[in-house]
Amino acid sequence: MFKFPKAGLFAAVTLAALSVGAAHAADGAALYTAKTCVACHGADAKTPILPAYPKIAGQNETYLLQQLQDIKSGARSNAMSAVMKAVMTSVSDEEMAALATYVAGLK
Ligand code: HEC
Repeated sequence: MFKFPKAGLFAAVTLAALSVGAAHAADGAALYTAKTCVACHGADAKTPILPAYPKIAGQNETYLLQQLQDIKSGARSNAMSAVMKAVMTSVSDEEMAALATYVAGLK
């Protein structure tokens, strides 16, 4: 069973995600920070906090959106995706699309 190494950070990340859950912005760059993606995947989306976490910058937009949907729905489910699934409960379909566009546009 995968254990998140920094339980305190994870709790903070989850709380931060919940507190901005009502935000309705569709600005991918703002969402990337507001939804705490930055905490795990890094400011440039290719410097994750743990080496095992994926570098997502510049990946195909359609692929990225599919992964976000699958992690949220549980279709993509494993010990690693579990830590991200908690965050995805506060990310709407519209926000996922904006995030996929933003991350795909990074180098
Ligand atoms: C708590 C840490 C954490 C947070 C917060 C987080 N992720 Fe993730 N993310 C992960 C982990 C771990 C994986 C790998 C999951 C797997 O292997 O199934 C992942 C996988 C992904 C993938 C799939 C990458 C691939 O190569 O298939 C995408 C896209 C992604 N995250 C985007 C985001 C976005 C956008 C956000 C903000 C809404 C976010 N993540 C928030 C930890 C996190």
